[in-house]
Amino acid sequence: MFPKALASLAALAALTLAACAPSKPTGVAAKMTKQSFGKTPAGEEVALYTLTNSKGITATITTYGGIVVSLQVPDQAGKLADVVLGFDTLDGYLKGHPYFGAIIGRYGNRIAKGRFTLDGVTHKLAQNNGENHLHGGLKGFDKVVWAAREASERSLELSYLSKDGEEGYPGNLSVTVTYTLTEDNELRIDYAATTDKPTVVNLTNHSYFNLAGQGEGDILRHQVTINAERFTPVDAGLIPTGELRSVDGTPFDFRVPRAIGQGIDAADEQIKLGKGYDHNFVLRWAAGTLRLAARVFEPGSGRIMEVLTTEPGLQFYTGNFLDGTITGKGGKVYHHRYGFCLETQHYPDSPNQPAFPSVVLRPGQRYQTTTVYKFSTSDRP
Ligand code: BGC
Repeated sequence: MFPKALASLAALAALTLAACAPSKPTGVAAKMTKQSFGKTPAGEEVALYTLTNSKGITATITTYGGIVVSLQVPDQAGKLADVVLGFDTLDGYLKGHPYFGAIIGRYGNRIAKGRFTLDGVTHKLAQNNGENHLHGGLKGFDKVVWAAREASERSLELSYLSKDGEEGYPGNLSVTVTYTLTEDNELRIDYAATTDKPTVVNLTNHSYFNLAGQGEGDILRHQVTINAERFTPVDAGLIPTGELRSVDGTPFDFRVPRAIGQGIDAADEQIKLGKGYDHNFVLRWAAGTLRLAARVFEPGSGRIMEVLTTEPGLQFYTGNFLDGTITGKGGKVYHHRYGFCLETQHYPDSPNQPAFPSVVLRPGQRYQTTTVYKFSTSDRP
């Protein structure tokens, strides 16, 4: 490993330790409460669960799309703010939205031209993003009602059976997504799936974060570190070209903390194609081990979010398509770049890119991944 990489690794480790100062217990025991969030037009009951840990942070999750509706975390002074974009009512989500907080499946991000070939059979999917397929199709996992089970006072288990042929994907896919709010101020997401026919799977969560508080301005001052030396450049349809390109000397070099605003409008071909950041980063180290993928620091509040994952990739999307036409929670208007996503995943278009890590799941195998969003505060990046 070359010296620059070593130095940045050491910096990341030090930053992680610095960020570990825990917030104080409130003396309140961890708990989960449930309330109704209304009904879908088809008459399905939708529930809203609120998980609270003993430090007082809360995560509110709905069974519609498995959406993280709100996430209240403290700033340096202990003041809570909701750091994810979304809506106060189910109706807000039903009207259509850019995947705020949702579970994405069966395939997160794009599949070129809406088709892939597996074991010699070509499967056709919806072309719901120009000529490409995006985030599972017309009715992806973000738009279905999940069955819920309170696995413990801190773990909400959501499950869904995606039928053989649903949205064009082969095989009955039985999916479980478990949200756990830990005493270390982590929202942990465990994804699992099994199938009865060979298929492709790539699950993620599409939360839009703003660590200053949702609706509180754009995200350009957030300082981001991403543990990646390479990213996957894209074509005009945001499909990876297949190249794994070094971040060195580009606006994609987040190996040391960098304000999002610094490179987001750079005169760079890839930045122009993404209209900002909308790219997959190739995370360091072998997939399958839970390790630090990214760290974000918001200078005004001192809030820090670390993202740990077992996945090989991370889609960094900076809300480039937000344009002020959506009014969200508390009447806040979501203008351009008011939120960013860090979607842990396999690389976009993997079903058509044999050189990328495989997303194929076969009968008898178990898909299992974990991602953790960990919150803390600090007075420096
Ligand atoms: C994609 C963006 C897309 C956004 C919302 C992200 O995962 O990479 O291109 O606009 O989701 O749909």
